[in-house]
Amino acid sequence: MSLLLAFDDEAALAQRLAEAIGWALALVGRHRFPDGESRLRLPPVLPDVVVLLRGLQQPNEKLTELMLAAAGARELGARRLTLVSPYLAYMRQDMAFTPGEVVSQRHVGHALAAWFDAIVTVDPHLHRVSTMDEVVPGRRGMALTAAPLLGAWVAARLPHALLLGPDEESLQWVGAAAAPHGLDHAVCRKQRQGDHAVDVALPAVDVRGRAVVLLDDVASTGRTFVAAARGVLQQGAASVDVAVTHALLVGDALDQMHAAGVRHVWSTDSVPHPSNVVSIVPMLAQAWPSIMALEP
Ligand code: R5P
Repeated sequence: MSLLLAFDDEAALAQRLAEAIGWALALVGRHRFPDGESRLRLPPVLPDVVVLLRGLQQPNEKLTELMLAAAGARELGARRLTLVSPYLAYMRQDMAFTPGEVVSQRHVGHALAAWFDAIVTVDPHLHRVSTMDEVVPGRRGMALTAAPLLGAWVAARLPHALLLGPDEESLQWVGAAAAPHGLDHAVCRKQRQGDHAVDVALPAVDVRGRAVVLLDDVASTGRTFVAAARGVLQQGAASVDVAVTHALLVGDALDQMHAAGVRHVWSTDSVPHPSNVVSIVPMLAQAWPSIMALEP
């Protein structure tokens, strides 16, 4: 017996996944007390195999609820507990950039490894730490990539597009998106000066008259895409669109991107957002036998 568990704010994605894998779905009941604490309610009897779907966009409260849900699930009968977290937060803080800075990636990874037997995600921001096994020590992690799905979406609309990654770390995604369709691709160099201040240096590629699609794993404030979009338009690109796996798009991100000249923003449904056009569900469903075969 097996069960997919999800929270109400991701019910639509969970429903699509449950249908694709043929599993029963139950939602975690949640009450938020006036002082901010959460009370969770799970099905009173759980089967041996439970998968919890929980994206960690806006992660701080969700991490507390995840800890409670995991502990509660085990008390209620789950013997094999897997987390499917389409967006895994805190992956970008993978080193102490200044003395004393806490390496959040390591500690969030350790916490998740203590709560879950296996952890699956999509396009985690792995850079200096390169595999999920390093993030989730002693446990089994799996990283799927939506880059080929975004590449197919772009190629179907703009078969001669130039795929451009806004920083050197994006080469892994831009390359995977471009290769199956023979799209030209390159990456920029980025220097972040602050949360909302980003400098992007374009590669030595002639963008004049080209349909440029900026592609990356995550857009948060959108300022990385803003800087890259301004650059390519200044250099004569015919159009600039954005394809991104995780559309966090906080605050005025979308407005700023459109103001910088971005035409379309295309994202996957890893994070629910109006820009979602590509679903990760078929990819998850295809990977499901491998996910279930992960060794705790
Ligand atoms: C980090 O390098 C990521 O790949 C993204 O480029 C970054 O997180 C985007 O952040 P923002 O949208 O705030 O510029």
